[in-house]
Amino acid sequence: VLLPVAALVTAFAVTYTTADIDTVGEVDFDRPLTIPPLAESHVDEGTRVFDLTMQQGETDLGRPEPTPTWGVNGSYLGPTLRAERGEQVLVNVHNDLGEESTLHWHGMHLPAAMDGGPHQMVGDGDTVSPTWQVDQPAATLWYHPHPHGETAEHVYRGVAGMFILDDPQEAELPLPRTYGVDDVPVIVQDKKFEGSELDDSDGMFRNNGILGDQVLVNGTPGPYLDVTTELVRLRLLNASNARVYNFHFDDHRRYQLIATDGGLLPRPVELTHLELSPGERAEVVVAVEPGETTVLRSAPSELSGNRFAGADDRLDVLQLRAADHLSPSPPLPDRIADAPTLDPDDVVRTREFRLSGTTINGQDMAMDRTDATVEVDTTERWVVRNADGDPHNFHIHDVQFVVESVDGREPPPELAGWKDTVFMPEGREVELLVRFSDYTDPETPYMFHCHVLRHEDRGMMGQFVVVKPDEQAGDPSHDHHEA
Ligand code: C2O
Ligand code: CU
Repeated sequence: VLLPVAALVTAFAVTYTTADIDTVGEVDFDRPLTIPPLAESHVDEGTRVFDLTMQQGETDLGRPEPTPTWGVNGSYLGPTLRAERGEQVLVNVHNDLGEESTLHWHGMHLPAAMDGGPHQMVGDGDTVSPTWQVDQPAATLWYHPHPHGETAEHVYRGVAGMFILDDPQEAELPLPRTYGVDDVPVIVQDKKFEGSELDDSDGMFRNNGILGDQVLVNGTPGPYLDVTTELVRLRLLNASNARVYNFHFDDHRRYQLIATDGGLLPRPVELTHLELSPGERAEVVVAVEPGETTVLRSAPSELSGNRFAGADDRLDVLQLRAADHLSPSPPLPDRIADAPTLDPDDVVRTREFRLSGTTINGQDMAMDRTDATVEVDTTERWVVRNADGDPHNFHIHDVQFVVESVDGREPPPELAGWKDTVFMPEGREVELLVRFSDYTDPETPYMFHCHVLRHEDRGMMGQFVVVKPDEQAGDPSHDHHEA
């Protein structure tokens, strides 16, 4: 007797029936995955210097004609920057886009004037040179534009890239670490096309923003990756405007989550499914058998329910093709990093953030209003609540925080590491412990916001400064450039 298909499906995914699932953008996996090149750099008087140019171009995205796109040092996306903990870095950011923009270093602990937020605009034809000392653990970070009101469009056209940080502790671990071979960037974006052009018509920017029906990984449509080692480390980055991915393999194999936004977890966490909202990262290690293939997919989001368009979609993301002979990989260690430590007893202040519509605490972002004045070298508890049932998330610039609780309970193991962006599905309330150790100045704010880019652009963003005990927030209304 054959089981009905629905029974087989529910055996794996209890919350869905086949009728709920809509596979969009079926692909053939006929193109090798593009690996973003490592950015060239040189060391000048102890400073590692990168040169990036934001530019327009055309890219083969699998359409009949090349697609007009934007990129960094190329026509779509940008190179992977890489630096060591302790290094002073400087990035010359040149803007050739034909309009003003910025580059923001998402997840980076750095002075507010170097942050590339909406107060650090780079005019068309101009170059800025933010510089800072890398002072945080090994992690997978990224960069993208942040012009207020235009972020969704600039990211959607293709300006984004990865920024990998290394440190000696991570380097000693027996983890896959050969870039592009067994340590692979996986920048996931969904796109909608009108003919050969990216569809960025106004309608696409309504409500939650763009949900595409075609997935690009590192800019490659229908990608496959030839795997030549027993274990492969995938650095997943959700660089999409709005879509939440629920990553799993088509055969529901288990994989190990080893790192999240801010770096390594205390120990590997075995999972079959992992949800990432826009801006979040995860490093996963997957085991393959000689000669097999498996497909990384996105299932319908379990956390988001059925409340928004796209929550029911199933998308194929990346095919892994294992070689007939695989090089051995050492087994993963049990312990990989120290657990993040922030002491709840150190909390000097609790703040609440209510996400609703396109506002935080009922207010739209205002470039000339400081929403939170934080005292430098203190720990705060930020309580964030989804108050309207739309999909949101919450990102704080400059810091990596600890998720203290989710809906009043201890967070799941995948939230046990440093985070800078946390998914906020319907009804969720999280408590975050945040330590602020970078003095800004009273007039140069950092941002916190929903990373659903349409929401952010429409005003779901606020500003905070980190000042000395006796200082008041100043006027943040003008631009603050480094240098
Ligand atoms: Cu990824 Cu304020 O941004
Ligand atoms: Cu939102």
